[in-house]
Amino acid sequence: MIDMFTPGKLGSLELKNRLVRSAVWEGMADDQGFVTDKLVTCIRRLAEGGMGLIILGYTYIQPNGRQSPGQTAIYNDDYLPGLRKLTDTVHKAGGRISIQLVHVGPQTTPDMIHGKTPVGPSAIKHPLFGTPRELTTAEVKRIIEDFGHSAKRAKTVGFDAIQIHGAHGYLVNQFISPRWNQRSDAYGGSPENRMRFATEVYREVRANANNLPVFIKLNLDDFIKGSTTPADALPLAEKLSEMGIDAIEVSGGGPASRKGPARIKIRTEADEAYFIDLARQTRKVTTCPIILVGGFRSPRVIDQVLASGDVDFVSMARPLIREPGLVNRWRSGDLTKAKCISCNGCFKTLAYGEGIQCLVEYKDKERYEKKYT
Ligand SMILES: Cc1cc2nc3c(=O)[nH]c(=O)nc-3n(C[C@H](O)[C@H](O)[C@H](O)COP(=O)(O)O)c2cc1C
Repeated sequence: MIDMFTPGKLGSLELKNRLVRSAVWEGMADDQGFVTDKLVTCIRRLAEGGMGLIILGYTYIQPNGRQSPGQTAIYNDDYLPGLRKLTDTVHKAGGRISIQLVHVGPQTTPDMIHGKTPVGPSAIKHPLFGTPRELTTAEVKRIIEDFGHSAKRAKTVGFDAIQIHGAHGYLVNQFISPRWNQRSDAYGGSPENRMRFATEVYREVRANANNLPVFIKLNLDDFIKGSTTPADALPLAEKLSEMGIDAIEVSGGGPASRKGPARIKIRTEADEAYFIDLARQTRKVTTCPIILVGGFRSPRVIDQVLASGDVDFVSMARPLIREPGLVNRWRSGDLTKAKCISCNGCFKTLAYGEGIQCLVEYKDKERYEKKYT
């Protein structure tokens, strides 16, 4: 029976266990998006901590596709030496690393994108970020190409896989949505047209990544009135699976949603694996491996979900901010649940400008410094 320490495969990529670090904005790149030593240390700790696969935080493929300070960039070749340091470090520690490519679309502010107006599928007001400028068809095609260019760069510097960010209200996710996408060209309108951006991004990434596995993190439900529901997202999952995608990481929600991707108050085992129903629905319409994220904290829940056959891999984010060595701890026989209390204090540490931290640990300066210096 499969458990978390059973080796597995995603496409051609062999992984030593079923545990994936879901992409986390590390906030540790410099102010132009270049990899820093601190980011290398953060990722090295995860590789040494026993993760089967690490997915690097969302990395922007165009200058106007950036959301946050300290976000890593890959939109030109200048970024490659730094990114190479990351992949070399992970490989030296016996780990595997995927990049996550993003264009954040409307979910950004002009100060993050050289004073420009954020862009989106349509000029529809976002409750947190204001009204974007509608992309022209030519610009849409250019973004698709730039996903491909970035995939090629990622391959050049030794990433083991490429994940497209198709979740959490960013551009790929917004194109799917009947709420945010009200275009009248070939990329909007009918359900088929709304899928086109995601499938063309996939095709372009695949063409440029050659034999590297390609994944997508996909919202199966946006939890926003009038936006993407499983009725919109499942046909896309089915199509991507038919097109040969190597894995779908099931997620949901975003900053404007009733239910976000990173829920708080995960106290009991019943609170964990909160997107399991969406994963089961995705399983029914696909043949590719399914990775499930969202609230995993206990080895027992992880093993149950894997043994059920509903998913093939489990990914975690917040628990590894607090305990980068969590997987090795479990492997050593200490099977107590992750120490993360799901308070989302990690988001608050953004204000400190030192990258993402566990707020509980950050308050303990001595422990924090041991971890990152
Ligand atoms: C601080 C922080 C940063 C995140 N950054 C990303 C990101 O860059 N890309 C992404 O797909 N998800 C991102 N997420 C969402 C997580 O990958 C994950 O989907 C979510 O936190 C639920 O998993 P968890 O309960 O294991 O934390 C982030 C979450 C947190 C808490």
